[in-house]
Amino acid sequence: MKAVICTRYGGPEVLQLADVPKPHAKKDEILVRIRATAVNSGDVRVRGLQVEGLMKVIMRLVLGVRKPRKPILGTVFSGIVESIGQDVSNFNPCDEVFGMTGFQFGTYAEYIAVKAKGNVLPKPQNATFEEAAALPFGGQTAIYFLEKAKLPAKAHPEVLIYGATGSVGTAAVQLAKYYGAKVTAVCSSSGADLASRLGADRVVTYDTQNFTQLPQQFDLFLDAVGKTKKHSVEHLLKPKGLYLSVAGLDYASENIAQLELLKELFEHHGYDATIDRTYPMQEIVAAHQYVDTGHKKGNVVLQV
Ligand SMILES: NC(=O)c1ccc[n+]([C@@H]2O[C@H](COP(=O)([O-])OP(=O)(O)OC[C@H]3O[C@@H](n4cnc5c(N)ncnc54)[C@H](OP(=O)(O)O)[C@@H]3O)[C@@H](O)[C@H]2O)c1
Repeated sequence: MKAVICTRYGGPEVLQLADVPKPHAKKDEILVRIRATAVNSGDVRVRGLQVEGLMKVIMRLVLGVRKPRKPILGTVFSGIVESIGQDVSNFNPCDEVFGMTGFQFGTYAEYIAVKAKGNVLPKPQNATFEEAAALPFGGQTAIYFLEKAKLPAKAHPEVLIYGATGSVGTAAVQLAKYYGAKVTAVCSSSGADLASRLGADRVVTYDTQNFTQLPQQFDLFLDAVGKTKKHSVEHLLKPKGLYLSVAGLDYASENIAQLELLKELFEHHGYDATIDRTYPMQEIVAAHQYVDTGHKKGNVVLQV
């Protein structure tokens, strides 16, 4: 099968299209013919080993010293079940599915074998394969952090989402609204219309306004892009308010309930998968170059 392999750590040009063996479904797995995946911030971080200091050493130890031990990057997929293992009862061939492999990677490829009881579900019925592939990364991360802040249990919370136009930010705005929050979105002027369209009650543009001078205080300040420091925004929190940032050492863990919520929101609540650009798999280098800019709006999808 065709797949994109990461030949070493470096710029987008280290990614190459190659022929690799097609996987097979083990007895508890399904084999998925991938139709779409996405190029996420996590992928470019791994490809370029884009972390500071000691984290570089830790990442090399975890992922591979000179190049990723798992050479096929990509963590999200949508596609069609081609075959199922002998013990699988929750999927059938031809089912349309979507999911996330996380640190197992492997989705920049024509096929992937995944655990049938893992992070995979029937695709939202009204979603294209591209939309379905765009849902899990930012969506599951945003749910993780909003649940960590116990947002679903709070009555009419006031929430500030900083970096509201990335993959995590666009999901966080929509999820916070779903949980009943009043949402202030902070983004650049080029993202203001998008943040409003996604439901933000108030949009503050960091390139023309000083958001640190806002008169309001918040129950939650979520930095969805990892560009703020707690001490410089603490005064924006209510006495029991919470500051969370995606840039800390806290890594979002995925579970099936998060994926179920995203499916439900997409099918019945007008959730927007927020696709910025779509590239064919052959243009993986261009897709990574664009995501490397750090300015994508929402998600970048790769058609397989
Ligand atoms: N901890 C975890 O488990 C976890 C999980 C997933 C992601 N992350 C991290 O979360 C971060 C965001 O991920 P992502 O996938 O959402 O990234 P992304 O989609 O690449 O973020 C790009 C967005 O950030 C905005 N942005 C860039 N600079 C900004 C600034 N100074 N202030 C406000 N917004 C800015 C950009 O808009 P403008 O250029 O128009 O401002 C763009 O819309 C990444 O660092 C990623 O590694 C952490």
